Amino acid sequence: MSLELELDIKMASWKILDDSSLDNTNDKQESEEVNDVAINKPVPESSHTVVQSSEQFSFDYIAFDQDIHITGAKASGKSYLANVLMKSFNGISVWVYDFNAQFSSSRAMVFHDLDELIEVYDSAKRLGTGRGHYILQPFENSEQTFRKFNAEAFKRGNLILIQDEIHSFCTKQKLVKEFNNNILSGRPRGLSMITISSRPASCPNNVLSNARHVFAFKLNLESDLKFLESYLGHDVWILLPKDKRKRLKDEPELEPHTFYYRDMDKDTGIISKV
Ligand SMILES: Nc1ncnc2c1ncn2[C@@H]1O[C@H](COP(=O)(O)OP(=O)(O)OP(=O)(O)O)[C@@H](O)[C@H]1O
Ligand SMILES: [Mg+2]
Repeated sequence: MSLELELDIKMASWKILDDSSLDNTNDKQESEEVNDVAINKPVPESSHTVVQSSEQFSFDYIAFDQDIHITGAKASGKSYLANVLMKSFNGISVWVYDFNAQFSSSRAMVFHDLDELIEVYDSAKRLGTGRGHYILQPFENSEQTFRKFNAEAFKRGNLILIQDEIHSFCTKQKLVKEFNNNILSGRPRGLSMITISSRPASCPNNVLSNARHVFAFKLNLESDLKFLESYLGHDVWILLPKDKRKRLKDEPELEPHTFYYRDMDKDTGIISKV
């Protein structure tokens, strides 16, 4: 199956930032644990049980306004998809927290030190040329770096933030404050979050409930599937190997690197590939 990707990327208007909201990043809360909100969306009842497959995948996305979440088992294609998305963001500022050196593009700049990334970004912005792709492959891949990456992006605003392997820092019980702040309060500052995680069941609810676009690749664990079903509907059973499915048992196995995509404002999703 060879599918074609049709991306329609729009950009929300540039946000004029009111720095008083920066106080959020400096709140006095010492604890790194932040209560996650429960997902209370109704389980969508699909109008059909057979997931449609699209030969031409159409994706309408508004940068600086909408969030994307990508999930799936190891080696299912999450980082590859995110890299394809990054390359399609022409003329849009993107920062990538690239945990495992998975991102590349001839037009992107790669940094190993966050301060250096910030310095280059700020100087380019002063010259009016900041709209590039900045990939951070941190030598010091620590929670401290992850926190600072999120805090500095919040201060600047008008950015797409791609963050790979967020399960390394956030769980359902533990949300990193600066990251959570971007998820909950980034939109008015023109921040779009693209988050990637391999375990939907342990991904913070805030992440999924704020994502307008969800891409789910193959999964192996029933617990992950059941959590995703509660959010995306029954169609996601197709993501499990056939012998583990409780529904859609007659549907074929997914081909490698295909995903289930759902625009959360629409009733049904689609199977596709980039
Ligand atoms: N659509 C695709 N077409 C061709 N190759 C792909 C595609 N998607 C992924 N791959 C290849 O499959 C391998 C795994 O993909 P990727 O690294 O994106 O997986 P991942 O889900 O991010 O895995 P991990 O959880 O280990 O980070 C890579 O070698 C990648 O190049
Ligand atoms: Mg990956």
